Amino acid sequence: MAKLVAGNWKSHGSQHQCNALIDGIIEGATSIAAPMIVAPAYPYLALAHSKIAAVNNIDLAAQNISAYEEGAYTGEVTASMVHDVGCSHVIIGHSERRSLFGDTNAHVVEKVTRAAEAGLIPIVCVGETLEERHAGKAFNVVESQVDVLFENAESKAAVRNAIIAYEPVWAIGTGQSASSEDAEEMHKHIRGVVQRHDAVQSASLVILYGGSVKPDTADELFSQPNIGGALVGGASLDAKSFLEIARVGAKF
Ligand code: PGA
Repeated sequence: MAKLVAGNWKSHGSQHQCNALIDGIIEGATSIAAPMIVAPAYPYLALAHSKIAAVNNIDLAAQNISAYEEGAYTGEVTASMVHDVGCSHVIIGHSERRSLFGDTNAHVVEKVTRAAEAGLIPIVCVGETLEERHAGKAFNVVESQVDVLFENAESKAAVRNAIIAYEPVWAIGTGQSASSEDAEEMHKHIRGVVQRHDAVQSASLVILYGGSVKPDTADELFSQPNIGGALVGGASLDAKSFLEIARVGAKF
């Protein structure tokens, strides 16, 4: 099955750059039989949606949403707002949100719940820091980040359609990807953790790998049975390299 390739554009770009990037991706995407997702910053979501609406293998994601519903929350953007401007997916709990903006596991659960209420598919990011890996805690840390998603009936229902992205913090933006064996080992572990909560969901769960994925590392990563695709940061800002990764994804 073709692998899913999602591009997280983070806080990059301008209207002009987003236009050019999306045009470049659309131009190549029609000849690639793999599903893709692009995640521009909030101000460019509607623009991206107007361009990809007619392209059937590119979906749109927001990079974050509020843990709150509509209300007096200055500066927050709700799940229903991003859905309203054309998003089908939302990235939740990215390590940059967790480390720089105080997103805790509890916030992640709230946001996943808001996403599901609005009809969005959450892409929930999990992953350990370098210190945690060196201390032999990587599996426990990721396990608790996954377990919490199933903490009660409401969150369990909300997370049913979720995609999980394993992104070891030390591999993000560093050029130092996890080896395909290490990534596969963790993806298998994640599937096992989900299986304890919901065997049906675990069988079809898509688990993306993220952290310095490049066109020349994609093939080895995608060859692993539990790696369902990639969440790509840096390499997704260039249409050519993003499409190359998607082209590799289409081979599977
Ligand atoms: P990177 O980012 O590909 O630049 O390492 C991945 C991510 O943060 O999702």
